[in-house]
Amino acid sequence: MRTDPLAFLATDLQSLRQQGLYRHLRILDGEQKPKSSFDHRQVVNLSSNNYLGLTTHPRLRKAALEATEKLGVGSGSVRTIAGTMDIHMELERRLAAFKKTEAVVVFQSGFAANAGTVAAVLSKDDFVISDELNHASIIDGCRLSRATIKVFPHKDVEAARKILRDLPAGPRKLLITDGVFSMDGDLGALPELCAVAEEFGAIMMVDDAHASGVFGKNGRGTIDHFEMHGRVDIQVGTLSKAVGVLGGYVAGTKTLIEFLYHRARPFLFSTSHPPAVAAACVAAVDVLEQEPEIIDRLWDNTRFFKAGLNALGFNTGLSQSPITPVIVGEGALAMKLSDRLFDSGVFAQGIAFPTVARDKARVRTIVTATHTRDELQFALDVFAKVGRELGIIK
Ligand SMILES: Cc1ncc(COP(=O)(O)O)c(C=O)c1O
Repeated sequence: MRTDPLAFLATDLQSLRQQGLYRHLRILDGEQKPKSSFDHRQVVNLSSNNYLGLTTHPRLRKAALEATEKLGVGSGSVRTIAGTMDIHMELERRLAAFKKTEAVVVFQSGFAANAGTVAAVLSKDDFVISDELNHASIIDGCRLSRATIKVFPHKDVEAARKILRDLPAGPRKLLITDGVFSMDGDLGALPELCAVAEEFGAIMMVDDAHASGVFGKNGRGTIDHFEMHGRVDIQVGTLSKAVGVLGGYVAGTKTLIEFLYHRARPFLFSTSHPPAVAAACVAAVDVLEQEPEIIDRLWDNTRFFKAGLNALGFNTGLSQSPITPVIVGEGALAMKLSDRLFDSGVFAQGIAFPTVARDKARVRTIVTATHTRDELQFALDVFAKVGRELGIIK
């Protein structure tokens, strides 16, 4: 009889169950909205990245439907063979103008943008200097590049400086940070890191996945927020979160973008977005430019909800954005908190090791512009009740 060479996978899963870390995929029964039905239960949804509610915005929906009618459902090829349509080029032009850079290249996802770009720009004799809490797609890009990876403690600019100072002068160096850290919601130390990069001639790269549509004028991101235009060589943004659709992009000089057209492997070897995706993203740029009051509503809701959690006595870490973690420590406790919240009508996903440090497990909350005050107050009341039942707050 053949023995199963994959038997170790079941052992690994069993170990996750024993540690209380086994993850059940919650199924969304309808649209991604502030109050949604997951697993057939109506809950206040604090788990999506749909910051501005654009997943169901009428202008995006209409643009996607019209593009499908006119252009079909697929692009039929990778960008470099036959899969570059007018609508892809229009999206890149619109994003470049929006970001105030010379050019933009769009990737299939933010993950592909980060991993594909770092791996294309660096090679094995180079160095990457990376914040310890940078996103997994940056870490994978660093590994793929085969450059030497030097990690500095979270936002420790002096440590990053010391690493750069001690490196040999010849090889290329890339200094990289998230604009907004996805699990803690704090901002990268952009002004200080840009200065360090300039001091040592390093390439400066910022992953603005959670800042796109959230920070800066009209949601232009942290580079705009900190007035760092012209000082960040490689800006990554995502179209999958506040923009409400799917994709990622790199903004920079024409030369950088032309280089990525030739060398970024996800661009070269994976099919481009369907026309509906590109058209909906163009419509999202229209919305960001013409309806900035949505972003104001996001920030009003963020202030209200954060203040409520803090007043209840929860540990919300160092968040400066609509991502507000409720840090509880043990992974099993975070999962229990998440489950009990869900049973009481609030969906806030539990996050544990390896996504965050073992002793910093949490539930992560993200409010959106489209939550009503009643929904947010209901969520706070449920947090208060369940937090007390579990002994997390008094
Ligand atoms: C900081 C950060 N960068 C990049 C990504 C990847 O973006 P996408 O979902 O578009 O692949 C994410 C998404 O989880 C993220 O949080």
